[in-house]
Amino acid sequence: GLRGSAGTRFPLAELHCHIEGAAPPPLVERLAARHGIDVSPIIADGAYVWQGFSGFLAAYDLAASVFKSEEDFADLAHSHLSGLAAQGAIYAEIFISPDHARASGIEPAIYARGLAAGIERARGETRIEARMVVVGVRHLGPDAVEMAARFAAEPGRPLITGFNLAGDERVGEPRDFERAFDIARDAGLGLTAHAGELCGPQSVRAAIESFRPARIGHGVRAIEDAGLVSEIVEKGIVLEVCPGSNLALGIYDDIKAHPLKQLVDAGVRATVSSDDPPFFHTDLSREYRLAAQNGLGEAERIALTRTALEAAFVEEDVRRALI
Ligand code: ADE
Ligand code: ZN
Repeated sequence: GLRGSAGTRFPLAELHCHIEGAAPPPLVERLAARHGIDVSPIIADGAYVWQGFSGFLAAYDLAASVFKSEEDFADLAHSHLSGLAAQGAIYAEIFISPDHARASGIEPAIYARGLAAGIERARGETRIEARMVVVGVRHLGPDAVEMAARFAAEPGRPLITGFNLAGDERVGEPRDFERAFDIARDAGLGLTAHAGELCGPQSVRAAIESFRPARIGHGVRAIEDAGLVSEIVEKGIVLEVCPGSNLALGIYDDIKAHPLKQLVDAGVRATVSSDDPPFFHTDLSREYRLAAQNGLGEAERIALTRTALEAAFVEEDVRRALI
């Protein structure tokens, strides 16, 4: 059964967090000073500052650029997962980006090796389990996304179990990225894609049709189309809902206006995640509190964790040990 720890009544799990988006501002300032990078445009008084989705993506790219060595990424994964374990999390997936590694001047294989070392270190100290999901960045175009898929599909990449499409949903069409998803599917990776965050139901429909994903990142704007909600329920597609992210980006004005509870009531399999926690002034425990404020009772919040473990891109023996 799902027993709690660290002061919570039940354990937490998250499926949707971008690792560079989890970087604490003080750490980014420290590394920026070491490398002579000016982060004053995106950090003020120890907090990230940005405006609008494009401003967020630019802030994310600048923060990511200060991480340059295998050890930097090991420390980042270790500190992120240790923080999650302290909140009562027993499982987490992190999104990793070979494009951001390259932009930082580090080989993607070394980047992934550092992150894997940080995962192992956190597991040794706290027992938290974690896996990595490689993202392609949509606004970099189909060729870059296909390269990311090839990287993920390469045999012998420890702890990489999934493939995802992130970045600006307003750019391009899902059909442009079908080949990348075919490569990832053929390699046996779990599939998920960001859709229905900035764009509406048609973006979710097209992502489902083109990618046949097990999960959708966000997907909340599916609520605008009852037929699509039914399709998501029938196909058993799991939504990685990020309420705090949606509020910070202005997708919804307040938590009462968020569709999480409506989706759950319609029979959608939902989970909650922090997306880019310090950028959105959130963390995983707050996401569960937001779920409560949105109307999910305790049994429904425990089901968020159970669904996350059921939909995790993790080996079956590890899943069984967690549930
Ligand atoms: N990259 C980091 N966070 C993201 C988000 N919320 N949507 C799309 N791409 C992202
Ligand atoms: Zn995301």
